[in-house]
Amino acid sequence: MTYADLILEWFDKNKRDMPWRRTSDPYCIWVSEVMLQQTQVVTVIPYYLRFIERFPNVSALAEASLEEVHNYWQGLGYYRRGENLWKGAKLIVDKWQGEFPRDPKLIKEIPGIGPYTLGAICSIALHLPLPAVDGNVMRILARQFCIGEDIANPKNRKLFEDKVMELMPNDPNRFNQALMELGALICTPKNPNCKECPMKPICEAYQKNVQEEYPVKLKK
Ligand code: ADE
Repeated sequence: MTYADLILEWFDKNKRDMPWRRTSDPYCIWVSEVMLQQTQVVTVIPYYLRFIERFPNVSALAEASLEEVHNYWQGLGYYRRGENLWKGAKLIVDKWQGEFPRDPKLIKEIPGIGPYTLGAICSIALHLPLPAVDGNVMRILARQFCIGEDIANPKNRKLFEDKVMELMPNDPNRFNQALMELGALICTPKNPNCKECPMKPICEAYQKNVQEEYPVKLKK
């Protein structure tokens, strides 16, 4: 069993139902990933549903006023995220006739899309093999491979992205979401539930009983 086989088998049995897991529309995945950047899944769900109902596609969002977009964001916080979505929708209408681009180089031009969000959209909606590395993914990889590099240092992100690509199977959509889900449900920041973890047989930190010592996160 490879790393990917193990985690994917667990993911298929244990994944939570989320509205954005029922679509592969890149616009919807974009909206969900931006909302999820600083906000938990349970909080995002009602906001996501209201937002997509009112702005079902890029053109609907581009035609709205910024004020209305702000209203739909009320309570989510980090309002720049909503502003960037709106600006991005206008850019997509102006540059690509409202058609969400399918080339990572072009997607990168959209405001508010950093390396994590780029990887998430490309893998989940477009099935392209790109890493989607956030703090959760760094944490679980640091434990599984006893990687002692400081996860708070942005220079170390590449190392984790390379690790994801080493492990990447044919199905980037399921693989990246399985990593996120393991980080949310089992390999949590405090008191990871190693007993129930599907990765136990190959987790280096678990084997050495040092899971509490990873990830290394130095204060800035
Ligand atoms: N956090 C960010 N993106 C997510 C996704 N697609 N599934 C679960 N949690 C996430």
